[in-house]
Amino acid sequence: MIVCSCRVISDREIRAAAAAGARRCGEVFRRCGNAPQCGTCLPTIREMLASACADRPMLAGAD
Ligand code: FES
Repeated sequence: MIVCSCRVISDREIRAAAAAGARRCGEVFRRCGNAPQCGTCLPTIREMLASACADRPMLAGAD
């Protein structure tokens, strides 16, 4: 599923970025090689990152 329609970033890419250590939206975009455009997707990406941290509590807060 595409989460960011401006930059065509999928939920898989966001989860992969989280698994690789991304904890902020900007890190997700950097790992995907671009930057946010309209920002509509940012709340969803934040939720996905928070969920990834909740699933892997030992990584929470690791900036
Ligand atoms: S939908 Fe992600 S920047 Fe526009």
